[in-house]
Amino acid sequence: MDRAETFRRYAEWVEETSPLYAVLTRAVADDPDLLDVSSEASAGQPEPQLLLAAVQALLLEGREHPLARFYPSCGGDEPDDDPVPHFRDFCLVNEQRLRSVIATRRCQTNDVGRSAVLCPAFEHVARTAATDSLAQIEIGSSAGLNLNWDRYRYDVSGVRTFGDPDSPVTIATEVRGERRPPLSRTFPPVARRRGIDLNPLDVTDEDDVRWLRALIPPGRRRRRDRLAAAIEVARENPPALVEGDVLEELPKQLSEAPADPALVVFSTHVLYQLEAETIAHLRSLLAEYSTEQPVRWLAIDPDEELGKPTYRLVTFVDGDATESRLARFESYGNWIRWHAD
Ligand SMILES: C[S@@+](CC[C@H](N)C(=O)[O-])C[C@H]1O[C@@H](n2cnc3c(N)ncnc32)[C@H](O)[C@@H]1O
Repeated sequence: MDRAETFRRYAEWVEETSPLYAVLTRAVADDPDLLDVSSEASAGQPEPQLLLAAVQALLLEGREHPLARFYPSCGGDEPDDDPVPHFRDFCLVNEQRLRSVIATRRCQTNDVGRSAVLCPAFEHVARTAATDSLAQIEIGSSAGLNLNWDRYRYDVSGVRTFGDPDSPVTIATEVRGERRPPLSRTFPPVARRRGIDLNPLDVTDEDDVRWLRALIPPGRRRRRDRLAAAIEVARENPPALVEGDVLEELPKQLSEAPADPALVVFSTHVLYQLEAETIAHLRSLLAEYSTEQPVRWLAIDPDEELGKPTYRLVTFVDGDATESRLARFESYGNWIRWHAD
């Protein structure tokens, strides 16, 4: 797909959730100068998200420009006029800085709404495994906010609330379809949790926190507030994150996993950033390790319809893999449709 087409597809994807970003990315698709600024993104990184986040990061730093009025995240009052000329001007005035941010940052959106779909999967694993506690390794954990999944409160519309009633993070979700996902009042205990990321984001670092905020479209207030609360939880309960490439770090993390708890590896919205050979290699690492103990891999990625990620559970035992589709869900956990028995 060429660069302009990537921006057009992104515009389609955000049409409902961020009309501002849809208008801006459609304009960028027809603007060779701005396409060129976005071309600084490193291989495999999504250019639309990086350009938009880099712009918002500079606005969040406090750069003054009429564009800020279109960004509620920066105190903007969302005027009715056309944002495109202001966006173009901002990009050209700040071109060098934008190029440098785009070249050095990665798309690392860390959304705890995904914990709403991880929860029932962890429960499913705990029910199907011979033991009820879990050892977890998250691939592509960003700031590790989903590693704290059992420290949040969940409000499942029409079903009930569960989780930590005192948590500052409430994740609201809706169950669609006939099947109820498995949801217990108490979570399976977590014996060990580790995250692996090429570039773990540090919730105590001002620039990293600004980048996490910049990755959320400016009008998505609920996501912004939820992120702020999850950062608060992570500062109290720092996730153990390891820096490095998944293929290099995973064997070590697998070998250190305790023997008794069920071993769960999970990745949410990560595979789209990996080469096909890397994914194949990752699968073979998991298969190889499963000769020592069974490994369950929850792979959650937007691999089918745009914005409607699928959710697979791959169980490796003695080198063999069996795969089942667990659910479909909205990318930020707003709803879930459970498939598994
Ligand atoms: C879009 S973010 C998703 C973050 C988090 N899983 C979530 O859903 O909220 C993808 C993450 O994968 C990481 N990543 C990409 N390639 C990787 C690799 N080869 N090894 C380790 N982490 C990687 C990125 O740095 C980024 O933090």
